[in-house]
Amino acid sequence: MAQTATAPATEIDYNPFAPDFYTSDPFGTYRRMRDEAPVYWSERWGWYALTRFDDVRAAALDADTFRSFEGMDIDDSRLEQVPPGSIGSMDNPRHDQVRSVVQPYFLPRRIAQLEDGVRAVVRELVASWRDRGALGRGTVDVAQELAWPMPFDVFFHLMGLPSRHDPDPLERARRDQLEHWTHELKDRVPGTPHLTEVARAATAGVQQFFIDLLDERRRCGRDDLVTEFVNADIDGVPFVGERVTTESEVSGLMMILFLGGVESTAGLTGTLFEQLAENPDQRALLQADPSLIPAAVEEAMRLTTPLQLTARTTSREVTLHGVTMPAGSRVVLIPGAANRDERQFPDPDTFDITRPRGRHLGFGEGVHGCLGAPLARLEARIALEEALPVLGDYELAGPPTFYPSSPNMYVWRNLPVTFGAPARRPHVEAVHHRTTTVTLATSEFEAEARVAAKEEVADGVVALTLREAGGRPLPAWEPGAHVDLVLDGAPTRQYSLCGGAADHSEYRLGILRDADGRGSSRFVHDRLAVGDPVRVRGPRNNFPLVGSPRYLFIAGGIGITPVLPMIRAAEAAGADWRLVYGGRQRASMAFLDELAPYGDRVSVRPQDETGLLDLDGPLGTPQPDTLVYCCGPEPLLAAVEQRCTGWPRGALHVERFAPRPQGEPARAEAFEVVLQQSGLTLTVPPDRSILSVVEEAGVGVLSSCAEGTCGTCETAVLDGVPDHRDSVLSDEERQADDCMMICVSRARGDRLVLDL
Ligand code: FES
Repeated sequence: MAQTATAPATEIDYNPFAPDFYTSDPFGTYRRMRDEAPVYWSERWGWYALTRFDDVRAAALDADTFRSFEGMDIDDSRLEQVPPGSIGSMDNPRHDQVRSVVQPYFLPRRIAQLEDGVRAVVRELVASWRDRGALGRGTVDVAQELAWPMPFDVFFHLMGLPSRHDPDPLERARRDQLEHWTHELKDRVPGTPHLTEVARAATAGVQQFFIDLLDERRRCGRDDLVTEFVNADIDGVPFVGERVTTESEVSGLMMILFLGGVESTAGLTGTLFEQLAENPDQRALLQADPSLIPAAVEEAMRLTTPLQLTARTTSREVTLHGVTMPAGSRVVLIPGAANRDERQFPDPDTFDITRPRGRHLGFGEGVHGCLGAPLARLEARIALEEALPVLGDYELAGPPTFYPSSPNMYVWRNLPVTFGAPARRPHVEAVHHRTTTVTLATSEFEAEARVAAKEEVADGVVALTLREAGGRPLPAWEPGAHVDLVLDGAPTRQYSLCGGAADHSEYRLGILRDADGRGSSRFVHDRLAVGDPVRVRGPRNNFPLVGSPRYLFIAGGIGITPVLPMIRAAEAAGADWRLVYGGRQRASMAFLDELAPYGDRVSVRPQDETGLLDLDGPLGTPQPDTLVYCCGPEPLLAAVEQRCTGWPRGALHVERFAPRPQGEPARAEAFEVVLQQSGLTLTVPPDRSILSVVEEAGVGVLSSCAEGTCGTCETAVLDGVPDHRDSVLSDEERQADDCMMICVSRARGDRLVLDL
């Protein structure tokens, strides 16, 4: 411990042990610490505290100076939830040796394989309260009925342990006991003897559970992760010694995996739902564009970091901001404060899921960076994907509560919300998002659906109405969105949604029979019948309707489909709009009857009656405050683009349903891609896509069209300059060079670093 405190005296009372610390604006205290005492000295507890982003990060990265051998606890209760032999209390070289035993099981591509198991866990939890909202407003405690049980069940699933439905009552009882202890652990209040004793007993119980489990596997191995730990060796020396004890490295490892995995994920998940209740505008964005879910997860992790603080001990004297911390000083690092540092994050106290990508410290940094980050991200994402459509526009049913005292964790105990059948949401001005946040998504909304109706709406065009197979609401969408239609017997294709965006009970698609296409539309026209099952994936929106007082819509042929909901939205918003709709013949132009009520706002131009579309009239002179939206065949898009060159930047929005013609790649040779998160460096030869090379290496990436038109494979670029060859990104987005469609785009130089 520190012998001498040389930090200036401060009146800031930072006491994370106070029962009301986390309920009484801890972030205001952090702000004062960052501004007035960036190296804070706690006379009461005898440790320093760092709160600025750069300082916390630098200390976390300098493991030689800021060492971990004294563990993470900073309270005076000596509960030692994490025993001395655990990986969190280790320095190198031993830390890395022990971590190497478990690290392979937590690589992103291994975690991605858990997707189905995690989703099954979440679906079961959600199913138990789904019906409560069907007949009016129902209530669910998101903390106790989702955020806590989800990571608990996932831990058991990951370790190959019994599920809550195990037929053996003894196994179920052991499992229930462990869950009970987990909550008792949270009830510790230093200085409150009874509760501390309860927590101490719970700690001992959890430790003994894992010691018994490890001993069982030593005696009789199984095909599970626990047995793999037991059989592991480090440089030829068995990882597990003669006897598993509280101090054993392996029991410490299990405690870290369990406590870290369950508690942190419960905190993250609870905060996500709490923040989305407090910020309905952000929730509406997410409901409109589920591709923002990974960004929302990162933003919740930044804003209200579950592991608010951790601790180190200095191995040498350190002077920072004029304060000298002697060798042996105990130093508390507060990522919860660093992640709200205005020096790093503009408007840091705002929950903003469209915030530009920036590194946060929610998962730690350096040698003790969170091992389970990919799993926590996966669980939080799936929780949102599965629960948000059911909760709809939910509201807090009362103030959320914390556990009585959690000096280092920000975790909700109760988060009651009311919810009902998805309500009509106010129109949200669409924002053109690019997911530049870490994208660990390996799947997205996918619903089993049935064809509820199929009608011919023009020569060669059918309108399909799809409903979720179980009658549940489908994910929300905004005008311009499309879904993947996954067919059993034909390639997956993307089709624009053309029904009512406020109607969550069904999706409507308009599909032109394309005799020269890949076969999907022929399958729909010729074979798909009412009642048949299909799957729909998405929705996604690469063609969002940006708020404007005036719109000019131009549709060619089946390009009318995304425009239909757009004109409904423009009409509802009271915007001044016109539609120029061209086609070969009147009989082949779909949805004319639905457009008729709009009168002369709609100009119908069948080519056999009126000749080629007159574009010079509407586009010849740039119109003030007018946005142009165009969808149709490539010649129409090219002609519109050519005529809009004199219009203001950003006025023209186009959507292609076939790839934009591309010239030769900028680079004819192979190039290198570095996958930052996976730690892989791969070579992409001239005749292969980045996507195929990445997938071959076992790294999960979402993809769909494989031709650069759907936006599914969008990947954040951390370094290097892409050769953009997609048909999705706007010119401005291309120039930013911070993301790319890896199914078609390539590299201009010899190296790209991707956030994969
Ligand atoms: Fe569709 Fe890449 S998979 S843009």
